[in-house]
Amino acid sequence: MTRSIATTPFDDQKPGTSGLRKKVRVFQQPGYAKNFIQSVFDVLDGFAGQTLVLGGDGRFLNREVIQTAIRMAAANGFGRVLVGSGGILSTPAASNVIRKYGAFGGLILSASHNPGGPDEDFGIKYNISNGGPAPEKVTDAVYARSKVIDRYLTVDVPDVDLDRLGSTQVGDMTIEVIDPVEDYAALMEELFDFGAIRSLIAGGFRLSFDAMHAVTGPYAHEILERRLGAPEGTVVNGTPLPDFGGHHPDPNAVHAAELFARMFGADAPDFGAASDGDGDRNLIVGRNIFVTPSDSLAVLAANMGLAPGYAGGLTGIARSMPTSGAADRVARALNVPLFETPTGWKFFGNLLDAGLATICGEESAGTGSNHVREKDGLWAVLLWLNILAVRRESVAAIMADHWARYGRNYYARHDYEGVESDAADRLMSELRGGLDSLVGQSFGSSIVAATDDFEYTDPVDGSVSRAQGVRILFETGSRIVFRLSGTGTSGATLRVYLERFEGPQGVLDYDVGTALEDLVEAADAIAGIRHHTGREQPTVIT
Ligand code: G1P
Ligand code: ZN
Repeated sequence: MTRSIATTPFDDQKPGTSGLRKKVRVFQQPGYAKNFIQSVFDVLDGFAGQTLVLGGDGRFLNREVIQTAIRMAAANGFGRVLVGSGGILSTPAASNVIRKYGAFGGLILSASHNPGGPDEDFGIKYNISNGGPAPEKVTDAVYARSKVIDRYLTVDVPDVDLDRLGSTQVGDMTIEVIDPVEDYAALMEELFDFGAIRSLIAGGFRLSFDAMHAVTGPYAHEILERRLGAPEGTVVNGTPLPDFGGHHPDPNAVHAAELFARMFGADAPDFGAASDGDGDRNLIVGRNIFVTPSDSLAVLAANMGLAPGYAGGLTGIARSMPTSGAADRVARALNVPLFETPTGWKFFGNLLDAGLATICGEESAGTGSNHVREKDGLWAVLLWLNILAVRRESVAAIMADHWARYGRNYYARHDYEGVESDAADRLMSELRGGLDSLVGQSFGSSIVAATDDFEYTDPVDGSVSRAQGVRILFETGSRIVFRLSGTGTSGATLRVYLERFEGPQGVLDYDVGTALEDLVEAADAIAGIRHHTGREQPTVIT
């Protein structure tokens, strides 16, 4: 029944920061998704008879590619496929299912926070048996394979009914259509004090969760409304749509503007949150206060012991390099190590597996722990709720207390999206070329103390990742980081990360924009942003 179909390679199947992401039209080319999936299977060893997990964020093409992957998994010799009903699994839920059922790995179909629909984005990511994104040695091998692939394997069978729970056979392989929410919700109940959160909510605490028409809708309805007793209507935009209702499912001030308006408006709820397309990012807003993801990581790390699942304390904290140093101060106070990794969740996998870190985070609205091997949007929301339920203080009070104790890292990221690729490359290479001569130069009142191009040696497997972002470190402790996005699907995105630290005795209530004004100017003087990109302003500030 297995058929080997001849194919010719595509030259653009290099996985980026988080799997292969392209326009839907690119994925619709005959053989495109099949070549990539076969390239993944071709570089893996020892999966005969094993389990593969399949699911995605429900975006346009999700169902078609799930059916394709089921046929190819059967043809390649997997013994069992676990697939979320409707083809749905949030990224953290997929990670959990892989771990819980001892799967060999999983394919997650998503382009995260990128928009969906026929003219927008799609993506495929392979996760390994620890539930985390495949490390670079695997993704590099997949890319190499994709350049020479000449056949893919499939079976001729009708589509599997993805909307009926239960088992069916495809050849020698079993397909189990599973409830995408159940295992995940059970895990959350183990980690957090649902009783305490329930009584917080019953006492009149009001929250609002924006699922952005993306995958967390069903998870949030079940956990926040059904299990924790929040009133119906707490979860908005809770039905996943193939085009996310025409929006970018990206939880930030621009794309979650409605939530911001609600949280800064009259009669705002106590707590607001949102998640992205595939459910791994989180946005936290208190009444009249936005919590930056870098600060959120620090506060969660400092208070994590209040949740039953973490009562034993932390072994370490990990953050990506561009994430602010707020968590570093918490690590120091807790006397645990702080790991600084390149951008992308895949770098946390080894640290979590080795038990070196308990909580990890990125400035890009990603936070997670050793409970899975992905960042996890609803998990961060529930940890916040657990902390609020125990401390019984407002988000603003918790932040003020945190800054008074540890100092405050004023922080912003400026993104220049859709820049012409050559211009972005020129900017980065001129910047890299001039790094040494910057040391000692003054910009405004700040003097450059050191510069480098971030390099990381994984403490577990010794692998080295180079050129992970240019860092300009000032004598004042301020910092600017420049890097190009590795997740875009058209042109280039320049990311400029700005950070200024004020100690506990410093000014802790500046407006963030004002606090960072000088650094914004320095960034342009150093990298020639206007000159190279022709842009006066960033596209998005987060
Ligand atoms: C972006 C974020 C990064 C995150 C990744 C996947 O990658 O910056 O922190 O891990 O998306 O969600 P980038 O586009 O910067 O390469
Ligand atoms: Zn995501």
